[in-house]
Parts: sequence; structure tokens; C-alpha cells
Amino acid sequence: MSSQPIDLSIEFCGKTFQNPFLLSSSPVSNSAEMVARSFEAGWSGVVFKTLNSDRLEIIHPSPRMNAYHYGAKRVVGVQNVEQISDRPLKDNLADFLYLKKHYPAHILISSIMGFSNEEWAYLAKVSEDNGADMLELNFSCPHMCIEGSGHHVGQAFELIEKFTSTVKNTVSIPVIAKMTPNITDMTEPAIYAKNGGADAISAINTVSGISEVGLEDLVPKPNIFGIGAVSGTSGPAIKPIGLHFIADMARCEGLALPLSGIGGIETWVDALEYILLGASTIQVTTGIMHYGYKIVEDMIEGMSDFMAQRNVTKVGDLVGKALPNLKTTDHFDLNRQGIAQYDLDKCVGCGQCYTVCTDAAGQAIEWEAAERRPKLMEEKCLSCMLCSFVCPVPGLISFKEMPETWSRDETKVMDNNLKNEIKLEAFTKEGPNECTY
Ligand SMILES: Cc1cc2nc3c(=O)[nH]c(=O)nc-3n(C[C@H](O)[C@H](O)[C@H](O)COP(=O)(O)O)c2cc1C
Repeated sequence: MSSQPIDLSIEFCGKTFQNPFLLSSSPVSNSAEMVARSFEAGWSGVVFKTLNSDRLEIIHPSPRMNAYHYGAKRVVGVQNVEQISDRPLKDNLADFLYLKKHYPAHILISSIMGFSNEEWAYLAKVSEDNGADMLELNFSCPHMCIEGSGHHVGQAFELIEKFTSTVKNTVSIPVIAKMTPNITDMTEPAIYAKNGGADAISAINTVSGISEVGLEDLVPKPNIFGIGAVSGTSGPAIKPIGLHFIADMARCEGLALPLSGIGGIETWVDALEYILLGASTIQVTTGIMHYGYKIVEDMIEGMSDFMAQRNVTKVGDLVGKALPNLKTTDHFDLNRQGIAQYDLDKCVGCGQCYTVCTDAAGQAIEWEAAERRPKLMEEKCLSCMLCSFVCPVPGLISFKEMPETWSRDETKVMDNNLKNEIKLEAFTKEGPNECTY
């Protein structure tokens, strides 16, 4: 354990953040009063709710969200159709002035979305003039009710470059481009943003999805008076997608921009995973919508403890540290194999391992009914580790590497009559493309 003081501060786009933890643009960052409370709780910065220029009247659909619960786990995701800010621009800008006056050491990032070149420039200019430290360009909301906005821009890569360039030519503060995950390869639009002059990339905004259909009225939720729509999914359900895109961009040599990671972050572990895969800062919405601003205390404490245990004093030294271990699947060493191993002293005899191994894996477990214990036939174990996922006792089932001389029994039990009916030519390259069991 290190006795050196832990330094959670980090440089991002030339600014010093007290820690890497920010509010992302959403209802959690909607007013100065809210943001001030979040700063008091420990967040180092905010991406304010995306500004509207007042040219368009913003009306939020009602209700604007639906929670996606899965079994006993509540709020695995949130489905939202919220639009950009419906507050008058002057109120939001007055909030900027208040926050910069009272919290000068915290970083204020203005999120903007324009509907024309002129509007992007205007929103950028008024943000800078009223104290914003940086801008985040919202190219990524998947459910704006206004045609040609949101992720439509994020999917039309030339527009990303054009609008980024317009903003960069208007202001002198750093500019972050916020990417939509509703594409295949994020490095491509990110490079367009870089060509337009972006100083950093943030990702991800919400994933286009439908999380639930009402079974009484047959309307996808949220149900806006009888109509549902494909809209934005957020929360823990989308974390794997966010991590993947951040890692892709961190490894893209042609990009080489600082990254802000977003998507499903609730705990210090989630935040650390984004950092280890290349993000310098992280942003949170759904975690706060579920638990409140106080989750930042766990992030600060958990990250500090982890660093102390590893003798890491600066959080910046963790950025991208997992990337050398992330490769394509053709790099796997297939000569090394392992199996599940059981510490039966801990077993409670529930039989869940036996059920899933029999119905969904290698039929490698026999059930000793008298003792209510599983008996693993090691040579049949597929090392899928499914048994460990369903075992209710932590640490009972773990992975063990086997010696190189060990080999798995690949033969499967099959009824002999059935075997005789298989037309083997179906499996040869030249044979007919027909297989009858
Ligand atoms: C209700 C709601 C409103 C949001 N509004 C905005 C917005 O105005 N601008 C924006 O860039 N992102 C917006 N987002 C997206 C979030 O900033 C964030 O990118 C996304 O929710 C994924 O992070 P999370 O899993 O921590 O929620 C919104 C998300 C939610 C749930």
C-alpha cells in the first residue's frame, strides 16, 4: 500500500479537473442549483443539459422515460425520449455565470446542438461569452422530434466535420465532439470530427432501442398516448457498447485525441474500466438518476483505494493501461486450455450448476443425489464457466488451467439409430448441401 498522497486530478483538453468524474448532459445537469449540489457532493465538472437557441419551441413528450427492469434488478436501463433543454437560453446562460462565479475551480462544459451552421456558431459564441470552459457538440441524440438533428448529424460524417469546423472557427475554448453509438465503426466519424478541429471525443450517447412493449395496449414504452418510438437506451445495459467504442478510439493511431467515456457507469469499478480502456474523464447520467449525486463518493474512495493498493499515485497513469491486453480473437493461445474447478466444502447443494451444464453446456456434471453434490467429469468440461455464473456461492467455482498433456473428450453421446441416419456427404465441401437427422 502506497503512503504517497493519491492524486485524482487529471488534465483534459488543457484544463485541470479535480477528479475524472463529470455529470453528463441530461436532466442531472439541468440547472445551476442542481449542478452546484453535485459539485458540493464531489463531481469535478459538468456537461450542462444541451442548450436550445430559443429559435424552436422544445416540448418534451409525456411521459418522457420508461425504466427497464430485469427480474429483481431494477433500472438495468432507461428508455428516454427527452429532447434538448426546454429552458430559455438566457436562463441557462445566467446559470453558467452563477456556476463560474461560485465554483471557479470546477469545469463547466456547454453542450450545444444547432440546426444550421449559423446556429452552431451562435450557441458556441454565447456559451464562451458566458463562462463555459469547453463545448461539447451533441451530434448524437437518437430521438429528437426535429428532422435533421441529433444522431442524424452524427451519422452524416461530412456534417460532423463541417459543424465542428464552424464552431472551432468561432470560439477559442476546447471543443469535444459527442458521438452516437448507432453506427458500426466510431473511429470514422471521430476522425471527421478531428479534421474539423475537435480537441476531444466523448462517447457514447444513448443507444437506439426499444426496451419494453406494453402487453395490455401493445404500445412500446414510453407510451406517449398510444404511440411508442425507437428511442435512447442508457444505463448498465449499454456499458459493454460504451467500453468497446472507447477502446476502439483509444487504439486508433489516426485519431489520437483525449476521450471522455460515457455509458452505464454507476460505480468506481465501471469508471475505472473506462479509464483503463483509454478514457481520461468519465460522465454519468443514469447512475445518478437511480442513486443520486452521492455515487461520486464511492467513485472517489474506490478509485483512491485501488490506486493506493497498486502504488499508483496519479490517476492519469491508469489511462489506457488495459489496452495492451486487448487484441483480436486470432491472438488467443488455443494450446492452453482449462476447466471449472469446484470447492465442494462451500457447496449448498442447489443443483443449479448441474441443470445448466446438462441443458446448455457439455453434460459434464453428474448429480450425486444422496449427498446433493455435483461431480464434475473433468474431461467433458467445456470451460464455458456457465456453472460459475449461476452458482449462488461466491468463490465456489473457479477456472483452472490444465497441463498441455490434458485433452478434452470431444465425443458426444448420441442415440445410435440417430447416428445411422446422418447423411455424411452433407458435411463434405463438394457434397450436396443437405443434412437429414
Ligand atoms: C433522460 C435523458 C436525457 C438526456 N439528454 C441529453 C442531452 O440533452 N444531451 C446529450 O448530449 N445527452 C443526453 N443524454 C445522454 C446522456 O448524456 C448519456 O450520454 C447517456 O445517457 C449514456 O450515459 P448513462 O448510461 O450514464 O446514462 C440524455 C440521457 C437521458 C437518460
